Amino acid sequence: MQNKKTKNILIAPSILSADFSALKDDIMAVEKLGADWLHIDVMDGHFVPNLTIGPVVVKWARKHSGLFFDVHLMVERPDNYWKAFKDAGADLITFHCETAVNKKTLINEIKKAGLKVGMSIRPKAKLSKIIQFLPYMDLVLIMSVEPGFGGQEFIPKMLSRIKEVRHIIDKDNLSCLIEVDGGINPATAAEAVRSGANVLVAGNSIFGRRKIKTDYKKLRKVIDNTSFNEYNY
Ligand code: DX5
Ligand code: ZN
Repeated sequence: MQNKKTKNILIAPSILSADFSALKDDIMAVEKLGADWLHIDVMDGHFVPNLTIGPVVVKWARKHSGLFFDVHLMVERPDNYWKAFKDAGADLITFHCETAVNKKTLINEIKKAGLKVGMSIRPKAKLSKIIQFLPYMDLVLIMSVEPGFGGQEFIPKMLSRIKEVRHIIDKDNLSCLIEVDGGINPATAAEAVRSGANVLVAGNSIFGRRKIKTDYKKLRKVIDNTSFNEYNY
């Protein structure tokens, strides 16, 4: 086990649950509160049954925010779209392992463009789909709900998946971060951290009640109070 004392758990508020008529204000609010990243969910209506954000939104958000833009592509053809998000100001591009693209090629292309790269896995997919790519990625995004919508309940079975990935990353001394996305709130965050997550995405629990300051701080506090000694993978 590595020294957990140095571990810093990042919060990535997901703008999927923001007020889109006041998106700039919501982004600036979480930035001011000290959010580490901004999670941006891109859905194409094919890979998931929902449509959300295109590059134009990211481009305008970029003009008002210095946050690290964590772009989660839930699209069938990430190879056709990632560049537009790079040009719009993305810092990290995460695509899904269930897509029919050449994953190694795409990872290399994104890295060559100077961006961080991540791969995501939906709860129903086999973990083996992603493991072979861990040495090449900056981040693995473990979905803890079926992708497509905010405000769903955390799937507790995903905790063992987080632990399994954490075990491999530490055993092989890889630098890949583990991001967990879906149903993260003050009640589920601690377990995700104890299982080995480094980055927690939170949409509804930060933006949902429109008490952004109170709710962000509540989540931050729970995470900060989760002792690294409790780390139990
Ligand atoms: C769901 C998205 C998530 C979503 C999380 O497909 O990938 O990023 O915004 O929302 P909450 O935190 O509300 O579950
Ligand atoms: Zn997401």
